[in-house]
Amino acid sequence: MAPGILDAAGIVALAVAVWLAVDVALYCPIQPVPSPARPGGGARFPPNNLLLNMEKIGEGRLSSPEDVYVDGGGALYTATRDGWVQRMHANGSWEQWGFVGGTGLLGVAPSAADGAMLVCDADKGLLKVEENGRVTLLASAVEGSTIRFADAAIEASDGTVYFSDATTRFTFANWYLDFLESRFSGRLLKYDPRTGKASVVLGGLGFANGVALPADESFVVVCESMRFRCLKVWLKGEKAGQAEIFVDNLPGCPDNIRLGSDGYFWIALLQLRSSPWVELINRWTLTKKVVASFPALLEWSKATLKGAMVAQVSQDDGQIMRVLDDSQGKVVRFITSVTEFNGDLFFGSLDANFVGKLSLAKVPHDLQDAVSS
Ligand SMILES: *[C@@H]1O[C@H](CO)[C@@H](O)[C@H](O)[C@H]1NC(C)=O
Repeated sequence: MAPGILDAAGIVALAVAVWLAVDVALYCPIQPVPSPARPGGGARFPPNNLLLNMEKIGEGRLSSPEDVYVDGGGALYTATRDGWVQRMHANGSWEQWGFVGGTGLLGVAPSAADGAMLVCDADKGLLKVEENGRVTLLASAVEGSTIRFADAAIEASDGTVYFSDATTRFTFANWYLDFLESRFSGRLLKYDPRTGKASVVLGGLGFANGVALPADESFVVVCESMRFRCLKVWLKGEKAGQAEIFVDNLPGCPDNIRLGSDGYFWIALLQLRSSPWVELINRWTLTKKVVASFPALLEWSKATLKGAMVAQVSQDDGQIMRVLDDSQGKVVRFITSVTEFNGDLFFGSLDANFVGKLSLAKVPHDLQDAVSS
């Protein structure tokens, strides 16, 4: 090539590079660090597609029911994008149970004291919703800092509420940016009804998500979605106050966790690292910045994520007992919660207009028997 002459392709490439650099410099909403390593595990948990057998309940009336709670009488509660807490009676009839408003209602959990429900409104904080429709904001700040992303809650028998603030850097609408950025700013919080105040139990969490208690309440579990693990913080005994790993190397990013009537924890595992494209983007902080700077690229990368998965875990030692999946996301793509009640599993999803239901009687105990379809 003669000196001083750029060919057309070179000029185009240079223009694109300048345009990208300017856009990233001006608009990039994240300050990324490298993504946590993804545990191997494909071989440990080959696809079984057992979730394909689920039945859809409340189809059409439920807009992205993220979390599901079933009470002792078999009534099911879920909060939907239209700002309602909806209830399905054991006889299958649905009702709009309590109105909160907004689009950020996530975790639902019972408040034993008075039949009220605790609801995490990602955008407002921890709420209490009563049967008569009264809504009380229990906590919107903690130790002087705003609760940015209230996600899941559980009430202990002494009335203390443990709940998560997924990240302090992004709101619910931008949750995916938090994963791209990969900084650990989530927190496990606790609300004390006696003082009416919230405090931080554990900080620095990689997207603080589901929260649960074992039957003896000797510890509280909080899931760290970004890091494929759940931690426990001891509440009783000589290790009270100490945090340790409860379960790690999960074959997905743990979302909600709930103790079932079968005595096991059930955890929803988001398949946020399932796409080769997303793994390519995650490889360099520069590619993360480029994708985060262009909404269309961001939506495209999210859309390449497929599949849904849940795991059954022992409450004593965090051992993974069984994993069920819909490996291609044929029925549901994005299971965010799983609840066991009387031998049935119920699934919530941010990408569905129904709650899934699957009888465990249809699931082999020994998954070696399971045939992938
Ligand atoms: C279902 O149960 C609820 C609560 O007991 C009751 O109010 C409702 O009328 C019942 N619906 C039907 C169709 O039986």
